[in-house]
Amino acid sequence: MTEPATWTVELRVPDEADLDAAGESRTLEVREDQSILAAARSAGIWLSADCQQGWCITCAAKLLEGEVDHSNAKRYYPSDDEAGFVLTCVGQPRSDLVLEVEQYDELLRHRAEHDKPPGRSKLG
Ligand code: FES
Repeated sequence: MTEPATWTVELRVPDEADLDAAGESRTLEVREDQSILAAARSAGIWLSADCQQGWCITCAAKLLEGEVDHSNAKRYYPSDDEAGFVLTCVGQPRSDLVLEVEQYDELLRHRAEHDKPPGRSKLG
């Protein structure tokens, strides 16, 4: 049996994020069969999440470098992929990654602009 590949994932946490690591970046190892969210939480980085099924977009991040597999997401659109959004609760690394985390508002706006759910209903 071959061991699952492991990738190096850098998480950049925005200054305004409500996390201990705000304004910092953290690097962790994530197996190809593991979600980025699960690996981050195991490493003590409590990223925001809710449904953990790739549906609600609470866990959104922006991909700055690398490739992420979203085959386990319940709702993920080609337009999300083209714009570089990642759902960390289901996203699994397929290369080393650099991500900007805590991007819920940004993905919410992006979805609304592309007429995708949850649409404009949740925009303030
Ligand atoms: S926590 Fe709901 S989509 Fe990731």
